[in-house]
Amino acid sequence: MSFPAQRPRRLRRSEALRGLVRETRLSAAGLIYPMFVCPGTKVRKEVSSMPGVFQQSVDQIVEECREVEELGIPGVILFGLPESKDPRGTISTSAQGVVQRAIEEIRKANLKLLVITDVCLCEYTDHGHCGVIENGEVANDATLQVLAVQALSHARAGADIVAPSDMMDGRVGAIREMLDEHKFGEIAILAYAAKYCSGFYGPFREAADSAPQFGDRRSYQMDPGNVREALKEVALDIEEGADMVMVKPALPYLDVIRRVREEFDVPVGAYNVSGEYAMVKAAAQKGWLDEKRVVMEILTGIQRAGAGIILTYHAKDVAGWMK
Ligand code: PBG
Repeated sequence: MSFPAQRPRRLRRSEALRGLVRETRLSAAGLIYPMFVCPGTKVRKEVSSMPGVFQQSVDQIVEECREVEELGIPGVILFGLPESKDPRGTISTSAQGVVQRAIEEIRKANLKLLVITDVCLCEYTDHGHCGVIENGEVANDATLQVLAVQALSHARAGADIVAPSDMMDGRVGAIREMLDEHKFGEIAILAYAAKYCSGFYGPFREAADSAPQFGDRRSYQMDPGNVREALKEVALDIEEGADMVMVKPALPYLDVIRRVREEFDVPVGAYNVSGEYAMVKAAAQKGWLDEKRVVMEILTGIQRAGAGIILTYHAKDVAGWMK
């Protein structure tokens, strides 16, 4: 049967009709808002390449978390800018670290927000790599212990979910074991399972002050050409105990999100990263794009590809528009 019996335009005649038959319905319930915690008090410094995103001291983080909760966003993910750095990122495991203190204060404020933490070393090492260096290389196994202890310190501070983003082999298992040993069996792991070596992290490295001081991250983050390898990474992380998995970045990897969604039965997230955000913001500021329209279209696309959870710097704007 085809035209004139078939007229797809019939279902596009009004917003009510379009809404009724819409296959992908964006909602704030699937959004996670990333935040950057820095030392000090009353600090709120905008990241120049990410308008609307701030490096903030713990007190300010708590204030913004109240807003995030009021907007109906279920959770935040925290990144730390520590007071000092060293070759092993030791301060990342301290109970007095900025992230650990932020978690505690969010808890004290009685917010219902899910607190997720990024577990990685790049913000805490003086060389900016995501692991410890041995013989000029990022050493996999020597890094696992530091990551596991860092995750444990986040759990002790009150985090709900830890999210390892370092891409070392075996880190999900090492973290799961450490958490279980210390009776944190209920803390979930959201693994950055398929994390690509991407130019789209550029603005984040300014925000988190985490650019590598030598070389690049190609020996641990994934090559952009690969999708079968992403499925392998996801399978390994699930085997090691990941409760949820993530693909990152989002827009250049929609096919990866789709494949992961189809082949695995765990919740799938996508990280709409700093560079994706910065492109939209820059074009909108120049009047070249309608910001609201393209942001809704982008997030709808990421969800349609298969991501039920989206980490995005647009979260507050989107939740506000949908209210
Ligand atoms: C840390 C980390 C990065 C991002 C999230 N966690 C940076 C990187 O790997 O270089 C990027 C997030 C973004 O660009 O918004 N390992």
